[in-house]
Amino acid sequence: MDRAALLGLSRLCALWAALLALFPCGAQGNWMWLGIASFGVPEKLGCANLPLNSRQKELCKRKPYLLPSIGEGARLGIQECRSQFRHERWNCLVTAAPPGTSPLFGYELSSGTKETAFIYAVMAAGLVHSVTRSCSAGNMTECSCDTSLQSGGSASEGWHWGGCSDDVQYGMWFSRKFLDLPVRNSTGKESKVLLAMNLHNNEAGRQAVAKLMSVDCRCHGVSGSCAVKTCWKTMSSFEKIGHLLKDKYENSVQISDKIKRKMRRRDKDQRKIPIRKDDLLYVNKSPNYCVEDKKLGIPGTQGRECNRTSEGADGCNLLCCGRGYNTHVVRHVERCECKFIWCCYVRCRRCESMTDVHTCK
Ligand SMILES: *[C@@H]1O[C@H](CO)[C@@H](O)[C@H](O)[C@H]1NC(C)=O
Ligand SMILES: *[C@@H]1O[C@H](CO)[C@@H](O)[C@H](O)[C@H]1NC(C)=O
Ligand SMILES: *[C@@H]1O[C@H](CO)[C@@H](O)[C@H](O)[C@H]1NC(C)=O
Repeated sequence: MDRAALLGLSRLCALWAALLALFPCGAQGNWMWLGIASFGVPEKLGCANLPLNSRQKELCKRKPYLLPSIGEGARLGIQECRSQFRHERWNCLVTAAPPGTSPLFGYELSSGTKETAFIYAVMAAGLVHSVTRSCSAGNMTECSCDTSLQSGGSASEGWHWGGCSDDVQYGMWFSRKFLDLPVRNSTGKESKVLLAMNLHNNEAGRQAVAKLMSVDCRCHGVSGSCAVKTCWKTMSSFEKIGHLLKDKYENSVQISDKIKRKMRRRDKDQRKIPIRKDDLLYVNKSPNYCVEDKKLGIPGTQGRECNRTSEGADGCNLLCCGRGYNTHVVRHVERCECKFIWCCYVRCRRCESMTDVHTCK
């Protein structure tokens, strides 16, 4: 895990205590469960004391053995968000938000922007991934490998299903049950369209896991002749799923902030193009994330490290929003020119090198 992700997680840890204090037992939204990500052994606390809304607590009480997977799902989602956006102006920073607002992702959780869409999708996908892993590992009674594939295959093509195929159905079901707050229970604080948007993006995240299922095979036969193959379905790495969702984020669809019967594209010329269930949807344009906005909890890019030669989002020009950058020389000391001395030790020299580090003004 990189340092930024670790920093994120340690901040989460600090937040944990704050979360419990801020939201003792209430039904404050759907997002308190993220606090579990920071927590090694949440089981010890028991479902009643975890930062969950009432419906999630109920689910947790009925299925306490799923708690480790919930924590792992949250950790996967947060880590992948940090990783996919590490070079961007918005870098998925997990921050403490002012009391009374959404914790952890702060502004982004309720802003209805593309960033909101990504967060919902990646967190819902993380839950599917971790629960499915747990099913395949045989840790659950309610789910296991995909038994529908246990016999069958194609004798003429020389392969058959075998081993353990990941079965995402249970993970998808659980992710829906745990995250998809019904629209009718909206408190009026968030508008109907934001709730509909979030539900859609949750599902888009889950669809990404299902879409990237692939087939692995192993050869059998005399000296690796591959006369017979055993194949099984497997989920892609969560990194691949993150990449797909990042791609969906970059091509996300703006919808109208008025729902008639269903959600519509904002762009009138494109209304005929149907909205696909794996599209990411957003309502509001994103801020540019260039300058600090304490009220919204946007840190701005001042002080971020940038790449002087890159033309991409991490380049100093784009990342620093044209404000320019400072250059510091950083000294590295490392062991080098190591020689093996008979017998038996290694002698090295200390080498110093200087590198330039650029940070946004
Ligand atoms: C399955 O359970 C074992 C023992 O509780 C645990 O060590 C392991 O991490 C679990 N695996 C998954 C994928 O949940
Ligand atoms: C949603 O509202 C219905 C009826 O108003 C209620 O029965 C149900 O328990 C609520 N669900 C949650 C998750 O709060
Ligand atoms: C900076 O960007 C260039 C061009 O994209 C790349 O080759 C180089 O590895 C990057 N440097 C760092 C430190 O990431």
